[in-house]
Amino acid sequence: MLSWFDQHGRHTLPWQHDPTPYRVWVSEIMLQQTQVAVVIPYFERFMARFPTVATLAAAPLDAVLAQWTGLGYYARARHLHRTAQLLCAQYQGEFPREIAQVQALPGIGRSTAGAILTFAAGQSHPILDGNVKRVLSRCFALEGWSGRPEVTAQLWALATNLTPLTRTAAYNQALMDLGATLCTRRHPACDRCPLLTLCRAHAQQRQHEFPTSRPRPPLTERTALLLLIRSRCGKIVLHQRPPTGIWGGLWSLPEVALDADPTAWCRTHLDLSPQHVERPPARRHSFTHFKLKIELARLVVATAGIITADRCCWFDVAQLSSIGLPAPVKKIIMADNDALRAAECDSVLFHNQ
Ligand code: ADE
Repeated sequence: MLSWFDQHGRHTLPWQHDPTPYRVWVSEIMLQQTQVAVVIPYFERFMARFPTVATLAAAPLDAVLAQWTGLGYYARARHLHRTAQLLCAQYQGEFPREIAQVQALPGIGRSTAGAILTFAAGQSHPILDGNVKRVLSRCFALEGWSGRPEVTAQLWALATNLTPLTRTAAYNQALMDLGATLCTRRHPACDRCPLLTLCRAHAQQRQHEFPTSRPRPPLTERTALLLLIRSRCGKIVLHQRPPTGIWGGLWSLPEVALDADPTAWCRTHLDLSPQHVERPPARRHSFTHFKLKIELARLVVATAGIITADRCCWFDVAQLSSIGLPAPVKKIIMADNDALRAAECDSVLFHNQ
C-alpha cells in the first residue's frame, strides 16, 4: 500500500500542503459525502475567508453558510461553526490532541477524528469512511450490511489491526485514494490494484457483491380500482384526491372499492348511466415503498351531464397538461385516447371503403 501510495497516491491536495489541524479538519468535513474535485475550490475560498479557528468562530453563521452554498449537507457548516466557537471557549482556539476529545466535538465521528490526528498531528489511528469500508469488505470478502453493529465492529477491528504505527498518514491516505480511484463501486480497476493478490472478493470474482448493500424488505403490492369514465364527446371524469396519502391533492381517475360495481357507483355517485362497460388489463406501477396494481373499469356515457359530487369534474383531454395529474394516471388516459383515435381512424377507413 505504501509503495503504491508513493507512486500513485495523491500528494498535492491543498490541505496536504501545510497540514495544520484547522486546515485538515475543515478539509475532512468538506470531504464527507463530497468528492475531492468539488471540494478543492470551496476549501481554497473558505481558507481565504476564514484563515484561522478564531476568524471562523467570530464570523456570523450566515457568512459560513454563504461559503458553503452548493456543497450541500449544511449541518456540516453549522457544526464547523459551533466547533470553532467551542475550540475558542474551551481549548484557547487550539485543536485537542486526544482522540476522545476530538471525537466529542460536533460533527466529528470516530473516522474523521482519526483522520485529523493522523494527518495533522502524526498520530496513528484507523479510519473507516465509505471508501475504506469498500476496500476492506472486498479485500476480506466481509459479508453483511455495514449498518449492522456487528459488521461495523468487524470493519473497525480489521481497520485497527491493519493500521501501521509508522507512516500512518501515508497508509490512511493510500486507503482513501485506493477506494476513490481504483476500488470504485461500479468499475473497480482490479488489474492495477496493489491488493490484487490478497483480495478475496477478486479471487472469487465477486467484487460487485461487496460491500453488501442495505437489505430492503420486499415491496408490498396494493391494488386500486380506478374508473375511466368517458363521454361520447371525449371528456373524462376526474376526482381531486384528498390532501394526504398517495397523490395527495392531485387530480386522478375516481378510485372505488375493489368489490364495487362500477356501473352502480356511477349511477349513485355521479348520476350517470353508462351505456358500455369494459375491464382493460390491469397495470402495475412501482413507488419507493410499495407497488400499485391499477385495475381499470372503462365506462362510456352518452353525454357529459352535470356532476354534483364533491371534487369530481369533467375534463377535456386537452386540459390535462395544465393540472396536476399522477404520471401513471396520465399514461392510462393517453393510452386510452390513442386507442380511441386508432379505432376512429379504422372506422373512417372502413366507411370509406
Ligand atoms: N476523503 C475523506 N478524506 C479524504 C482525504 N484526506 N483525501 C481524499 N479523500 C478524502
